[in-house]
Amino acid sequence: MIEIKNISKTFHQKKQSFKALEDVSLSIEQGDIVGIIGFSGAGKSTLIRSVNLLERPDEGQIIINGKDFMKLSSKQLAQERKKIGMIFQHFNLLSSRTVFENVALPLELDNTSKSEIQRKVNELLKIVGLEDKADNYPRSLSGGQKQRVAIARALANDPYLLLCDEATSALDPATTQSILQLLRDINQRLGITILLITHEMEVIKSVCNHVAVIDKGKVLTKGTLQEIISDRENPIIKQFINSGVMTIPQELNKKLQKEPGAGLFPLVEVELNEQITVEKLLSKIYDEYKIPYRLLKADLEYLGDSNFGKLLLQLQGETEENQKLIYYFNQNKIQNTVKGYA
Ligand SMILES: Nc1ncnc2c1ncn2[C@@H]1O[C@H](COP(=O)(O)OP(=O)(O)O)[C@@H](O)[C@H]1O
Ligand SMILES: [Mg+2]
Repeated sequence: MIEIKNISKTFHQKKQSFKALEDVSLSIEQGDIVGIIGFSGAGKSTLIRSVNLLERPDEGQIIINGKDFMKLSSKQLAQERKKIGMIFQHFNLLSSRTVFENVALPLELDNTSKSEIQRKVNELLKIVGLEDKADNYPRSLSGGQKQRVAIARALANDPYLLLCDEATSALDPATTQSILQLLRDINQRLGITILLITHEMEVIKSVCNHVAVIDKGKVLTKGTLQEIISDRENPIIKQFINSGVMTIPQELNKKLQKEPGAGLFPLVEVELNEQITVEKLLSKIYDEYKIPYRLLKADLEYLGDSNFGKLLLQLQGETEENQKLIYYFNQNKIQNTVKGYA
């Protein structure tokens, strides 16, 4: 439905030029919720703004529903843009207009009749759960409510696509979840395709079914959420998913030795993935290898039935048994690091 084909974009400022996008390709199917994740400055905003040509790529093609956007006249493009809604981190509401009037704006610009505006705006406010705020001004709303107004406004022209540029980045975690729930509803009830960009893995995990990772203007990897999140070899994904460093509890750290010795047990950090979930790992250690252990830290991420993340444990079996288990890890490509002995 949406084909972003080999687009590149260089910004020129005074004597400097900066390549913000380099040969980016992405296709998005109707009904998808696609997330693009990357660090600040990666080119995310440039990419999402390229979709409706708010930013015109230097090269490449944007093809939406068979139309080559780069070849449209400005009049045709303006017409097409009406069917693509957009929301932003800072909401961009007009402070001098009420909630109702903010949502009505795109309809007014489209010369919609007063009675139709009345009907449509009320319907939209219902969708976003703000029926009772129609006459409020933005300043009296919370961040989450402001974003709901912005969403209602973005839906006014019945778009088939909603572009979200860091739409939840200014919101607290609970409000973020409620806005993401609203986006999911809109996707499912209204069948609107959603392309969102974010620097937060939580956002991606909550709503997206497809993901692309962008860094320094290039797409590093793309795939289903499951594929991306389990690709823990990828250093960028690793940073997003597993940024937490596992610190060793202080009282153990004090007596931690680099080399094995009598009466010392290894501290092992193990990475979990689809093949080795926390349940499987612990059962392997305790039921199969019969090694007593002390679980020191766990950093788990859940995705459907799978879990990912890391465990830090102390193996308290006989030296030989502990070694056998670590040998088993290494044979079976279960990432593990012996942090020391205590
Ligand atoms: N209009 C512009 N002029 C010059 N440089 C720009 C412009 N827009 C973006 N950039 C640069 O392009 C890079 C990518 O920006 P952006 O797409 O906003 O990244 P992100 O949204 O991932 O933080 C940044 O280094 C930014 O400074
Ligand atoms: Mg941005």
